[in-house]
Amino acid sequence: MSQLIDGKALAAKMREQMADRVQELEKKGVTPGLAVVLVGEDPASRVYVTMKEKACAATGIYSVEHKLAAETTQQELLALVDQLNNDEKIDGILVQLPLPAHIDEGCILNAISPLKDVDGFHPFSVGCLATGNPTFRSCTPYGIMKMLESIPYDLNGKEVVVVGRSNIVGKPVALMCLAENATVTICHSRTKDLEGHVGRADVVIAAVGIPEMIKGSWIKEGAVVIDVGINRVADKKLVGDVEFDAAAARASYITPVPGGVGPMTITMLLFNTIQSASQRVAK
Ligand code: GUN
Repeated sequence: MSQLIDGKALAAKMREQMADRVQELEKKGVTPGLAVVLVGEDPASRVYVTMKEKACAATGIYSVEHKLAAETTQQELLALVDQLNNDEKIDGILVQLPLPAHIDEGCILNAISPLKDVDGFHPFSVGCLATGNPTFRSCTPYGIMKMLESIPYDLNGKEVVVVGRSNIVGKPVALMCLAENATVTICHSRTKDLEGHVGRADVVIAAVGIPEMIKGSWIKEGAVVIDVGINRVADKKLVGDVEFDAAAARASYITPVPGGVGPMTITMLLFNTIQSASQRVAK
């Protein structure tokens, strides 16, 4: 039977340490500041943004929300990003995704100053990660790395299989594991023999967004399973991308859903915002 990697407990511990760090910054006259931009009425995005703002308040980070109508033009959004890039009180800018279809997401992410890119989505941040000199690391993958570190788990020479190739999770987490000397395979919807790949993995990172797509019987005995999926199924129940019970019977460590990767994502956003503010002190 496996041990749980408790993301909620790790997040709480890290947030306590971060609150202390914010107090130290306060003494130097710096309050970390995060601007959160929400365009439109997507209900899931609304929930995430509120959670991010509450987490900021609990840690002593100043946060400001810019709530824009769904009809906001790309030019208007670019003007707001420009204003925030030049706002001295703001250390981090987060434009909540997805954006309405008429706005070019890439164009907006490119406009955020790399010095305030606490989401780690700017091509500069991604390029720095890819070339081995990371600046801001995107929050969900970074949270996964902190969870592996907490076990602790040495990725050196291990087989990591990432299922999902999104810019938010799959690709950056693969790069982070590669930087730790793992042998990394990225699987996706066109992959042949997914079961075979997963079955060889020492670490499986599932980020596909399909409920229980990864069968527990595929997991190698003793593997570590990180489940990024949060899928609502019948009776409002939340399940991951991995069949939990069957996988837990084979894995050495596994993340629960909920209470696994989820709480770490916001924690790493706070972490990045504090890191950005610290650079303000260093100037
Ligand atoms: N939408 C889903 N996850 C994220 C995230 O980590 N950052 C932003 N900006 N939007 C998201």
